[in-house]
Amino acid sequence: MDPIHFTERLLLAALRRVQEISRRRMPDDGRRVRDSHRFWNDPETTDLKTIMHWRGEGPFEDEAVWFGLGRRHREMLERAASWAEVALPADGVVEWGCGGGMNAVAFSTIASPYYGVDVNADSLTECIRQVEAESAGVCVPVQIEADSPEDALAHIEEPCDLFFSSYVFEVFPTADYGLRVMRVGYELLRPGGVALVQVRYHSGIRPVGGGRRAYERNWVSHTSYTIDGFWQSCEGIGFEPMYVTLVPVQPELDESMYAYFALKR
Ligand SMILES: C[S@@+](CC[C@H](N)C(=O)[O-])C[C@H]1O[C@@H](n2cnc3c(N)ncnc32)[C@H](O)[C@@H]1O
Repeated sequence: MDPIHFTERLLLAALRRVQEISRRRMPDDGRRVRDSHRFWNDPETTDLKTIMHWRGEGPFEDEAVWFGLGRRHREMLERAASWAEVALPADGVVEWGCGGGMNAVAFSTIASPYYGVDVNADSLTECIRQVEAESAGVCVPVQIEADSPEDALAHIEEPCDLFFSSYVFEVFPTADYGLRVMRVGYELLRPGGVALVQVRYHSGIRPVGGGRRAYERNWVSHTSYTIDGFWQSCEGIGFEPMYVTLVPVQPELDESMYAYFALKR
């Protein structure tokens, strides 16, 4: 065997071995879901209010950042609605992972009612508080357990025109979990309704996460997708992808590699 061929086979064998070890060390999905739920409900989690994007906390001490990001998301949602010919103000918007209400207060002019879904009860209370403080319409809180996102279907019985999520898919326990939420989103929308969903994208080999400590260390970019992979998975659910907007650098929060998918049911 020639030396190049030999080295190639050696490298391949090593790669397979690494993949095998990673697979064995990877906890089952159920455990990862429980780890994520615990993380977002643990008062010991470092800077919990900041990472749930509460007004006045961390980078949101600067109110212009908090209001500015919400406003930008509203403009993006307006554009997606216009592409899909959804008339505004729309009948109902669901935000998955609403946090402290940065988007909720911005969306009141384009849709009512606003349904905020979250796993953290304090964030839902804070979201309502901010909507009231800004006289920003009706906020209906929907608290779910991370292991049963489908429960939202029982709380939101009217089909909605809009479904939105930002800075949440990256903290999901697995990529499959994100697609499970997309299926719920599809069910919540009326035919012709629009989803605008932000995910973290990657273009190469995915880093392998694992275990509770790994989630705590890496929650902010725990889950990512390839652009074409997410597009096709959404098609598989029944969505008609319209376009994708890339935000490779996000200076306000010092983050990177975001993609917003605009999808029509
Ligand atoms: C980084 S904050 C983003 C808040 C808001 N979307 C924004 O853009 O300002 C993430 C939020 O997602 C919530 N969250 C985490 N896992 C969730 C899940 N499985 N389902 C719904 N919400 C979740 C957290 O409690 C937290 O409020």
